[in-house]
Amino acid sequence: MSNSLILRNIHSLIGIEEGDVLLKKGAGMAETGILNNAWLLIIDGKIKSFGLEPYNIADFSEKEDQTISDRKFVNSLQVIDCAGKMVFPSFCDSHTHLVYAGSREIEYIDKIKGLSYEEIAKRGGGILNSAKRLHETSEELLTKDALGRLDEVISYGTGAIEIKSGYGLNTNDELKMLRVIKALKSLSELSIKATFLGAHAVPAKYKGRQADYVDLIVKEMIPRVAEEKLADYIDVFCDKGFFNPDETSRMLEAGIACGLRPKIHANELDYSGGIQTGVKHNALSVDHLEYTGDAEIEVLLNSNTMPTLLPGAAFFLNMVHAPARKMINAGLPIALASDFNPGSSPSGNMQLVLSMGCIMFRMLPVEALNACTINGAYAMNLSDKLGSITVGKIANLSISKQIPGIEYMPYYYGSNKLDTIILNGKIIKSGIPA
Ligand code: NIG
Ligand code: FE
Repeated sequence: MSNSLILRNIHSLIGIEEGDVLLKKGAGMAETGILNNAWLLIIDGKIKSFGLEPYNIADFSEKEDQTISDRKFVNSLQVIDCAGKMVFPSFCDSHTHLVYAGSREIEYIDKIKGLSYEEIAKRGGGILNSAKRLHETSEELLTKDALGRLDEVISYGTGAIEIKSGYGLNTNDELKMLRVIKALKSLSELSIKATFLGAHAVPAKYKGRQADYVDLIVKEMIPRVAEEKLADYIDVFCDKGFFNPDETSRMLEAGIACGLRPKIHANELDYSGGIQTGVKHNALSVDHLEYTGDAEIEVLLNSNTMPTLLPGAAFFLNMVHAPARKMINAGLPIALASDFNPGSSPSGNMQLVLSMGCIMFRMLPVEALNACTINGAYAMNLSDKLGSITVGKIANLSISKQIPGIEYMPYYYGSNKLDTIILNGKIIKSGIPA
């Protein structure tokens, strides 16, 4: 018999979209479908139907499938009473570096003392520090630690996540990271996408020989990653002091030839040409974008690339803020992601990202919600399956505590407003403490 679960008496069912809506942009970002006093039925891990209370077996029917009688069906239904609670699509976090070894709180103190991200990187800290620790850590321990982090982000409402390599910086360690991500895909209920980020930084061994490292990525790493089918996407840190547009193009072209679509780090530190380079290669997303001007907005408007902002990193590093309002007003879509990593954003809490979108970027709560759900799903090429309340989509949903309205989610920042998490139609955790 089919596995079925019904949510009843939902105060507000939020994030309803038709199946052909794959992203929200411009003025549309402030809109979402909402049903008050609703029910939602899940069968075999998918959203089967939803409507206004009272739920009536005649409205819905597996009878159409002629598989089971009404009474048998009703008896088999697991019911969750959602009185006073809201139901949202799970967050889709499209940019993380969640597989890493150790932590970097000492650099955090250096940052407080005034050293910049680039200065810390130049002193062998930053990404190179994480690479050293990753080299010394076993695949088993990396997997165990990453699973703990996944559990944590699940409890805050994440239902799909992208995870990058990029702390390996040599062929073996990059492959090690990607194998860990592959293991996570099979161990976790989350939908996970893997991105190869060999070009995260130039490793110490290649100092002064950046071109040779690009060669290694193109000639050795990308073919191996493709051969072992370890990644869905390719990323490059295209920015001042890291990789320039020519080097980025070369690596992206090699990746594309192996079936890896680009999703790149761009314009975090300067007007680096990263956005243009990403769009030129039909990137699924360009991420960070603190330095986005009129020329970059124009290029993005004529593309299928999702501009993705990472307020956690801008907050943690005290950086200039991406011009989110200007971008939305120009008609662009925006996705928000956590950038969960040990250096610039040691948190994967998407409820916090939602709040930061509103506080730092002046996004309206519904704009920020769309940015954290359907637009994040688009940035992982998953928005036909996830990111909204849509019949046929995977039932990855969050049930809130009793809260007064949707605005309360970003407003009451810093604490967990969720009560129950559903992934693939299964209840993952209930009664999560605040
Ligand atoms: O997205 N900008 C580049 N990479 C990461 C930082 C990673 C780190 O510092 O470990 C980011 O912020
Ligand atoms: Fe990042």
